[in-house]
Amino acid sequence: MVGQATDGKATAVACANIAFIKYWGRKDDALRLPLNASISMNLDRATTTTTVAFDPALERDEVVIEGMETAEKAAGRVSEHLDRVRSMAGITTRARVASRNSFPAGAGIASSASAFAALSAAGIAAAGVAMDERGLTVLARLGSGSAARSIPAGFVEWYAGDRSEDSYAEQIAAPDHWDLCDLIALVQTGHKEVASTRGHALVESSPFADARLAAAERALPVVRDALLARDFDVFGEETELEAIRMHAVAMSSRPSVIYWSPATVAIMLAVREARADGVGAYFTIDAGANVHVLCREDDAADLDTRLRAVPGVLDVLVNRPGPGIQWVSGHLI
Ligand code: DP6
Repeated sequence: MVGQATDGKATAVACANIAFIKYWGRKDDALRLPLNASISMNLDRATTTTTVAFDPALERDEVVIEGMETAEKAAGRVSEHLDRVRSMAGITTRARVASRNSFPAGAGIASSASAFAALSAAGIAAAGVAMDERGLTVLARLGSGSAARSIPAGFVEWYAGDRSEDSYAEQIAAPDHWDLCDLIALVQTGHKEVASTRGHALVESSPFADARLAAAERALPVVRDALLARDFDVFGEETELEAIRMHAVAMSSRPSVIYWSPATVAIMLAVREARADGVGAYFTIDAGANVHVLCREDDAADLDTRLRAVPGVLDVLVNRPGPGIQWVSGHLI
């Protein structure tokens, strides 16, 4: 399945994804084994394109994001991930990495999922490592948990697993299965205050961690079945409650993490008001203040107007079910 590498160079495009059942907390930090399985949808308009070019002349990896050399911390995580690729390929060659997002820099939707999915796919192709889709989801997961779900197309489940090779992601429905839209109401443009990596580490300190885990495990098959049956209300209700549970854990962790801003809450209430007016809409929120409003195609225009009218909403980005990882010939370097 891997795109053919030419001269140790390859480029891949990956979508970000939005989780309906969240990955929140890990049972193994080094392997990024999640406490619970999760379900998500790829976002067709939020993509990362990454080129990896191995070059024997380099003494260290070089990472350029949006045309700018990256800070050491981010570059270190990329380098560590390339080490996994190098060890699979049996090489020590350093690489030049260039990456670009389809969404505006600083839009607050920068995604480690699309970044590590694209880096993994470009990395193995550039290094000439043969791998099936399942193996690639495992590799991507080691870079960033949610990246595993950006490899398959459309609607995806990531099985928790107890061993690294069993913690992989798989498609549960193709992108054209359902006309679901994700309207991302942007209220935050900077980097989020508490990275999700840190949020995961705090989960066990919340007195609600076990209750949320049990509820997520109960909700997962309900969300999966509702998604397969295109039962929007069951799907939406479960998805909205799961987001609230995840944030209840974050808020009750020690130290406590509040990702919401006043505008976040205003949007949550506006979504419920829309629902009371008969518009099919439910929200979910990741580790940030932006709100993902889920609806069907027929309600998207109406909701877009309603969301833009909420004070504090800077923009609304409309996403539909996106494809899986793709290798392309247009290299960035
Ligand atoms: C709230 O995948 O960003 O978006 O494995 O530490 O990179 P790391 O965490 P990350 O966590 C995502 C958390 C979430 C929920 C989700 O996408 O399932």
